[in-house]
Amino acid sequence: MSVLGLGIETSCDETAIAIVRDGREILSQPLFSQIDLHNLYGGVIPELASRSHYDKIPFLLKHAFSEAGISPQNLDYIAVTVKPGLTGSLLVGYQTALAVHDITGKPLIPVHHLEAHILAVYLSGDLPDFPFLGVLISGGNSAIYRVDDIGSISLIGNTMDDAAGEALDKAASLLNLPYPGGPQIEKLARSFLSQKDNTSTENPLPIPLRDLPRSEVRFSFSGLKTALLYLLEKQKDAYSREHLAWAFQERVIESIDRNIKHAVDISSIRRVVVSGGVSANGMLREKLEQNAAKVGYTLFIPPKQFSTDNAAMVAAAGYLYFAAKKFPVQNYVSSDNAFNFSLYRN
Ligand code: KG4
Repeated sequence: MSVLGLGIETSCDETAIAIVRDGREILSQPLFSQIDLHNLYGGVIPELASRSHYDKIPFLLKHAFSEAGISPQNLDYIAVTVKPGLTGSLLVGYQTALAVHDITGKPLIPVHHLEAHILAVYLSGDLPDFPFLGVLISGGNSAIYRVDDIGSISLIGNTMDDAAGEALDKAASLLNLPYPGGPQIEKLARSFLSQKDNTSTENPLPIPLRDLPRSEVRFSFSGLKTALLYLLEKQKDAYSREHLAWAFQERVIESIDRNIKHAVDISSIRRVVVSGGVSANGMLREKLEQNAAKVGYTLFIPPKQFSTDNAAMVAAAGYLYFAAKKFPVQNYVSSDNAFNFSLYRN
């Protein structure tokens, strides 16, 4: 018998609902992106984000049930992102999920946003065998985790300052590109490489944490951003915008690639899931695919549409918990990113 799940995601600037059968077959997934709203300010404004979620969520919910052709009573579970994220935004999604749960009596499954990004890989195929490495590179996180089971995740290494996506967004802003910067930087980087007269692929930007020992997993992007700022101030016309976009992205990609190699070495785990908004980057994907074969690990990356925030990944994560009869306990939303849900089995 099939299992029908509702996924709700409102942790940042996307209001997203998904109705999914068996954790994978998407019946409806309306999403409202607030990018235009925050673009005016160059970053996400929390108060505007929560108000926008509040405005849009009733329509998206109604649309999802109508498109899926089911009623709330047909659901088997309700999955909702409860952490980490913007508190006001999370509350809108959580309160909506609670209302559906109260009306239907169906189990409410609180979902950790970062775990949902990692489990998004289930939307396009089976999960790799446990344990595997979960590499999370998004606007809010750059970290590598060891995933031993559903709900059993431990941190291997983190960023010391900015997240990869945050760094790309800030670099884009320095280059006068709109938010979110990652896709804009990728476009310019590709155009730099395709320029016919492009003979110099000299990278004028420093390698972050150049001397990082192989026994460590660690990211740092704030120095890279400062280096770009100084370069723009001091040698404004020395490099084209395309060249600088390529150079910055190249350093970010190298850092992700190198840290994955270190994590594989340290853990001896050779199954690697790469997810989060930055994993939508085609040039990163190409580099990792080449290097996975060389280094000897198997790479799993969710399709691009599930790299950035979406509710299908929340529904998929909820399904995996539901199927395993594991129910995390978290009675409120939280902005911290610790994996500290306790689980009960029914
Ligand atoms: O996972 P996500 O949608 O939101 C969270 O941060 O949770 O990630 C958004 C981030 C932004 O920083 C955005 O610039 C980046 O993902 N991003 C990209 C690309 N598409 C989105 N970065 C590099 N290349 C892309 N194609």
